[in-house]
Amino acid sequence: MGQVDIVVGVQWGDEGKGKWIDIFSANAKIISRFQGGNNAGHTIFVDGEKIVLHQVPSGILREERICTLASGTVINTEGILLELKTLKAKGIEVNPERLRLSSRAHVITPWHIYLDAKDNDWIGTTKKGIGPTYESKASRFGLRLAEFIDEGTYKTWLAKMTSHFADFANMYEKNSDQWSAFESTRSQVAPFVSDVECFLREQIKKNEVVLLEGAQGSLLDINLGSYPFVTSSSTVASGALSSIGFSPKAIRTIYGITKAYQTRVGAGPMPTELHDDMGKYLAEKGREFGATTGRPRRCGWLDLVALKYGVEVNGVDKLILNKVDILNELPEIKVCTSYRHPTDPDAQSFFAEPEKLSKVEPIYKTLKGWKSDLRQDHMPQEFRDFVRVVEDFCEVPIVFVGTGVGRDDFISLS
Ligand code: GDP
Ligand code: IMO
Ligand code: MG
Repeated sequence: MGQVDIVVGVQWGDEGKGKWIDIFSANAKIISRFQGGNNAGHTIFVDGEKIVLHQVPSGILREERICTLASGTVINTEGILLELKTLKAKGIEVNPERLRLSSRAHVITPWHIYLDAKDNDWIGTTKKGIGPTYESKASRFGLRLAEFIDEGTYKTWLAKMTSHFADFANMYEKNSDQWSAFESTRSQVAPFVSDVECFLREQIKKNEVVLLEGAQGSLLDINLGSYPFVTSSSTVASGALSSIGFSPKAIRTIYGITKAYQTRVGAGPMPTELHDDMGKYLAEKGREFGATTGRPRRCGWLDLVALKYGVEVNGVDKLILNKVDILNELPEIKVCTSYRHPTDPDAQSFFAEPEKLSKVEPIYKTLKGWKSDLRQDHMPQEFRDFVRVVEDFCEVPIVFVGTGVGRDDFISLS
C-alpha cells in the first residue's frame, strides 16, 4: 500500500480540480500531472488573489512542493516559461528542483497548433495543438522533450518532418518568427527536463505522499468519454498508471470532483443543457467562462446518469461536491436521474453513441432548495437531502463540499 492519491474531474472539466489540488497539496510532497497540456485551465484563489495555471501543477503554490509533468503530458514550452514568469511576479520562485518535466513528454510545436486551428473546429477544441501532438506521438512522428533539447536530434526531427509532410516545410518557412520563438525556449527548458517517471517511482517506493492531478474531465477521456467530442488523452485515474508507470497497488484514494450542476465547453451532446433563464443564472452566478479560452460554458442541472458513469470508470472512492454555493438561493433544484430516448427504451446509461445521447430527454427529480449560505455548523435538512440523493444514486460517499473559490471555502462531511 502506497500513499498515492489521484484527483480527477468526473464531468466535462472545470469541476474545480485546481482548487482541490491546492488544498490537498498541504499534505503532499509531490504533485504530478499525468496527461493533457495547456488546454487545461485550473483556477486558484490564494488570499483573494487569482492564479490560473495551465500546465504547472497546482501544488506549486505551496513552498517546497515538487511538481512534475509525466510522460503522458504534452508540453508547450513557451507556455511553461510564461507560467514561471507569472508565478515569479507573484513571488513564487520555481527552480528545476521544484518543477521537473519528463524527457518522455511530447512537445507541442507551432506545426501542431497550426493543424489544430485548421482541422478541428467541429470539436470546438481549445486550439492549443493538443490533438495533433498526440496524433504525432501515436504515429511515431512526435518530438519528445528529450529530443527537443538536443540540437542534433531536433535537427533530425525537422528533416524527418520535412521529408514526410509536404506542408511542413512550407509552414516552417512562412512562420519563421513563430518557430524562432519556439526554438529559443530549448536552452531555457533544458534544466527542467529529467527522467520524471524514475523519480516518481523512487518517491512512491519511499512511501512519500504523491498527488496526481487530473486535467480535463472523465467525460472527455479519449477511450471512455463522449467520443468524438473528447480530448486526446486518457483523463481517468487509470490513465495515471500508464503515464507514470507504477503499481495500481500504490494508490490510496481516488478523489472525484463534480460540480453541483453540469457544464461543458465545446461541441458534443449534453443531455441536461438548459437554454433558458435557469441556464443563464447558473452561468452568471457560477462565472462559467473558460479559464483557457474565455468561451462561455454550457450550463444545466446535475446529470446523475453521467456522474455515476464518471464515478464508475474512475473507481472513485470519495466524491467532492463542488460549487454548491451557486445553488444557495434556489427554491428548487433538479437532478437528472434517467434518460428517455424517443425510440429506444433501454437507452438508460451514459452510452457510447453521441447521436443517441443528443436525442435523450433528461428525466428530473426535483428537490427543495436550502435557501441559505452553508457553513460547517449550518447544513439544513434540504441540503443534506441533496447530498444523500447524489450519494445514493452514485453509490459513493461525498466527503467534502465546496462553498466558495478560496482555500478555506469548504465543508467536511466525513
Ligand atoms: P478546473 O479546471 O477543474 O481546475 O476548474 P476551473 O478553474 O476551470 O473552474 C472552476 C471555477 O470555479 C474556478 O473559477 C474556481 O475559482 C471556481 N470554484 C472552485 N470551487 C468553487 C466553489 O466551491 N464555489 C465557487 N463559487 N466557485 C468555485
Ligand atoms: P480543465 O483541465 C473543459 C474540451 C474542449 C473541447 C475538447 C477537445 O480546465 O478541466 P482539446 O483542446 O483538448 O483538443 O479540446 O475538450 N476541453 C476542456 N473543457 N475544461 C478543460 O480543461 C478542457 N480541456 C479541453 O473545449 O470540447
Ligand atoms: Mg478548467
